[in-house]
Amino acid sequence: MQRSNHLIASVADAALEASIVGSFSRLGFEVRSVSDRWEDPPRLDGKTVLVTGASSGIGRAVAIGLGRRGAHVISTARDIGRLNLSAKQVVAAGGAATVVPADLVEPSQVEALVERIGATCAGVDAVVHNAGALFPGYRQAPDGTELTVATHVLAPFRLTRQMSTLMNTKRRVLVTVSSGGMYTERFDLSRLEMTRSDYRGAVAYARAKRAQVVLASQWQLRLGPGVHSYSTHPGWVRTAGLDAGLPGMARLGPLLRSPEQGADTIVWLVGEALTRPQAPTPGFWHDRRLRGVYYRPGTRRSPAQERSDGEALWSWCEDRTVFV
Ligand SMILES: NC(=O)c1ccc[n+]([C@@H]2O[C@H](COP(=O)([O-])OP(=O)(O)OC[C@H]3O[C@@H](n4cnc5c(N)ncnc54)[C@H](OP(=O)(O)O)[C@@H]3O)[C@@H](O)[C@H]2O)c1
Repeated sequence: MQRSNHLIASVADAALEASIVGSFSRLGFEVRSVSDRWEDPPRLDGKTVLVTGASSGIGRAVAIGLGRRGAHVISTARDIGRLNLSAKQVVAAGGAATVVPADLVEPSQVEALVERIGATCAGVDAVVHNAGALFPGYRQAPDGTELTVATHVLAPFRLTRQMSTLMNTKRRVLVTVSSGGMYTERFDLSRLEMTRSDYRGAVAYARAKRAQVVLASQWQLRLGPGVHSYSTHPGWVRTAGLDAGLPGMARLGPLLRSPEQGADTIVWLVGEALTRPQAPTPGFWHDRRLRGVYYRPGTRRSPAQERSDGEALWSWCEDRTVFV
């Protein structure tokens, strides 16, 4: 009986995934949460999690979801007013909250953020790299890097490196919030950072989100035993970021997920990876299942290409984040 239930759930899951709209929309969440019989993520009492982009949308819902499980949540983003509001909601949900504002594309602010965390927290168990945006027009970070790449790739790279001494060594969890948009682009380092003349926001975003998945695999390979690194796609979620970056998506109306639904797999991964004897398999997750990273033939990479992609991206990130 249990086996046939599992089979039905897997068939339903595969049918949703093949349709894409079914998978990424609210429908996918609602069908899978029932057919896979999702339970509440484990309690996180005594665990500390840093969440970037916790002032809004999915990041705020992740912070509140972790708080509800009893975690201490360190929230960061630029807008202190919205961060404080989010922290109040974390406490109301049952968690502990610390707020440290920072612009993550400003190296000096990342350094100050890490210093503040080191001075006030005993150790960090997990980092959720969630901060992000789709910029319709070309913009640059203070160091001149195109802003999409600076925000999604270089900022998490720098933050993870600087956080390494503050993270608990027995089990450290990294969750990167990528996007299903990454399925549309092949990883190609030479085309990752777009220029003012060829810039298209949705393309730059998809390439950066693909690079995030490559980077998350590199963390798994390079950061040593005890590290569990995941990337994930939250689905199509009604947030201020979606409205600003992809206003056309708002037309999906009731098909969009709530921020809580978008946050679900992220909170679940943190909980499972920090508390279960057997952590979930590192890789790309959506709706609590491990997913492939390729849909389109033109984006597919062989294992050897994946290895060289990862090495090339790692060297590039190192070169571009030489410490100030
Ligand atoms: N919504 C969707 O359908 C969807 C789908 C796939 C993936 N995603 C991904 O989910 C993540 C969250 O997006 P969202 O939809 O929840 O958008 P959102 O509501 O606009 O939230 C984005 C968060 O990122 C923060 N942020 C942006 N740039 C930052 C910077 N330079 N330094 C520090 N914080 C920064 C923002 O805070 P401040 O403005 O206060 O700094 C905000 O808290 C993003 O990575 C996005 O790419 C979203």
